[in-house]
Amino acid sequence: MDDKAMLYEGKAKKLFKTDDSSVIRVEYLDQATALNGARKDSVAGKGSLNNQITSLIFEALKQKGIQNHFIKKLSKHEQFIETLEMIPLEVVIRNVSAGSFANRLGMKEGEPLAFPVLEFYYKDDLLDDPIINDDHVKILQIGTEQEILTIKQEAHKINLALIDLFGKIDIQLIDFKLEFGKRADGTILLADEITPDTCRLWDKETNDHLDKDVYRRNLGEIVPVYQEVLDRLEKAFH
Ligand code: C5P
Repeated sequence: MDDKAMLYEGKAKKLFKTDDSSVIRVEYLDQATALNGARKDSVAGKGSLNNQITSLIFEALKQKGIQNHFIKKLSKHEQFIETLEMIPLEVVIRNVSAGSFANRLGMKEGEPLAFPVLEFYYKDDLLDDPIINDDHVKILQIGTEQEILTIKQEAHKINLALIDLFGKIDIQLIDFKLEFGKRADGTILLADEITPDTCRLWDKETNDHLDKDVYRRNLGEIVPVYQEVLDRLEKAFH
């Protein structure tokens, strides 16, 4: 397939048209980025690990009744997804204080939160993805009141499903980011990816980071860490 068929090039994946307009081919890249792309490194093997991890998780979520864009894994680093109109929101849920939340609110990292905290960020590279609230979502015409409610309810359901899934492989789900898209009929569906790039995952025993913070904070190599997450998932869910 040539580059004319490329629909989008992101920081960690490329999206391509297929002969069927309702289906997109995603290629996961061997690339790690931080600071909104300002830091970028080539990391051999990362693309295929993330493709395998997110495929397994989206499949497991489907089995738990959470509909999503995943159709099927095509190869180690490629998958087919349903074509959706993406909603320019990053929906973050936090179970334990960490990262920008801990920094913004002056909290210690690792404090369990009394309830899952949901945040919206406006997906806009030029603005550096600012944190926004429900009123901003409506003013920016990103979504209606009802759509905001649906996204929040769905995100909380996904949180419970992911806590359960990672709990079974001795991983604590600290926080994570989701993205949603819309079908032509208006149905809102979970999209994008769920990988160690988009979640904070701590080993239950040791509190070791099994996620992109290893790259962001220069704690070591990420490939063995992502491989560990995939190995545990495969052992539990294949
Ligand atoms: O950096 P911050 O603490 O706000 O990140 C919260 C969660 O959202 C983390 O799990 C992080 O990996 C994820 N995230 C992401 N993409 C972004 C920003 C955050 O996947 N652009």
